[in-house]
Amino acid sequence: MSRSISGFSKLTKSEKIDWIVTNYLSNSSIAKETISQYFNEDLKLQQLHDEFIENTISNYYLPFGVAPNFLINGKTYAIPMAIEESSVVAAASKAAKFWMTRGGFKTEVISTTKIGQVHFIYTGDFETLNQFFNAVKPQLIADTKPMTKNMEKRGGGILDIELRNKTKDIKGYYQLHATFETLDAMGANFINSCLEQFAKTFKAEAEKALDSPIEIIMSILSNYVPDCPVRAEVSCKIEDLKDKNIAAETFAKKFVQAVSIAEVEPYRAVTHNKGIMNGIDAVVLATGNDFRAIEAGVHAYASRNGKYTSLTHAKIENGVFTFRIEIPLALGTVGGLTNLHPLVKIALDILGKPSAKELMQIVAVAGLAQNFAALRSLTTTGIQEGHMKMHLMNILNQFEATKNEKEVIVNHFKTNTVTHSAVVSEIEKLRR
Ligand code: MEV
Repeated sequence: MSRSISGFSKLTKSEKIDWIVTNYLSNSSIAKETISQYFNEDLKLQQLHDEFIENTISNYYLPFGVAPNFLINGKTYAIPMAIEESSVVAAASKAAKFWMTRGGFKTEVISTTKIGQVHFIYTGDFETLNQFFNAVKPQLIADTKPMTKNMEKRGGGILDIELRNKTKDIKGYYQLHATFETLDAMGANFINSCLEQFAKTFKAEAEKALDSPIEIIMSILSNYVPDCPVRAEVSCKIEDLKDKNIAAETFAKKFVQAVSIAEVEPYRAVTHNKGIMNGIDAVVLATGNDFRAIEAGVHAYASRNGKYTSLTHAKIENGVFTFRIEIPLALGTVGGLTNLHPLVKIALDILGKPSAKELMQIVAVAGLAQNFAALRSLTTTGIQEGHMKMHLMNILNQFEATKNEKEVIVNHFKTNTVTHSAVVSEIEKLRR
């Protein structure tokens, strides 16, 4: 047995599986069977997935669901979601239906400017560097023409480049801080290619013009996109919040309090925002976007004032309840996985082939709806009632319950509290 290997990437897929199964898995025949159960019979489709990343040994499925009845700026959407957590799609659908009869969601994209930076070290005189930068700036832009001309034709491109002095933080540290408009593309490749070209030109020209050398440390886009904010909002008269479990006014007040708690208490804010990301990540993933980039950017935004806080806000004013979200989202509807993954294409088709701006609004709504559903449960019945109902199916599947067993047990738990042990005990009772 050897737990390390060189040249793993050069093995064929079945050799890779053999190696991993032999060296890391105790029951090799079951492991092999499980891994191969997830292969797709359509060889072309399988090859497509194999080539998304390196060293693929199988596919990892996530459920792909749809939450219908989202009324956004007067247009009705069914929102595709890829997520494993059992209650998320149900919660989104419930919130969508609730707001559909109360005017729906209103949204607005405020701006779509993205940022990239060339980080470099220079220990010479700042004024000399500044003059050099101003002189070389037109050439920095001109040298990227081969990569920017198509984007410019469509109305996007490089917006500006600034020299930023960061020597207070690190000796000799400066940045070329560039802003971009990438239209319907998320733009990572476009931005990074431009930045690497800036770095090349900047260094080459500096060698001719400056006495002190420039050392390029790195060139990379930022996933912090505070200039890509989108807003979504719902509002209605307090009396329209009527719910079977609680009086409208009590519910509205409790709801606003719950949001206020997330605004001031970071322990609650993290969980509150996690619930928002349940909705956001599911749509981001279904539409082939980079959920890690979105997560990083959104959480940084949640702490932009030095303290981690809620991404949503609620108020009651003149008898009207308003609930809103403002988040930065850098999303794409062209390029990357959007042109490659067949289910991503379906997801975008379900949404009516949206522009990146339209997708930003849909995603923000998914986050707001998810948060509304979570807070509605938390401030009324408690979260476990809904969660455990959804979890019931997971437990039944874990015990490989038959169709008939599922029917009897689901029926039983319509009037009884779902707990893991109660479900197990019902299964055992039925099987005795
Ligand atoms: C669970 O995935 C998400 C919640 O914890 C969010 C929240 O507490 O607001 C229910």
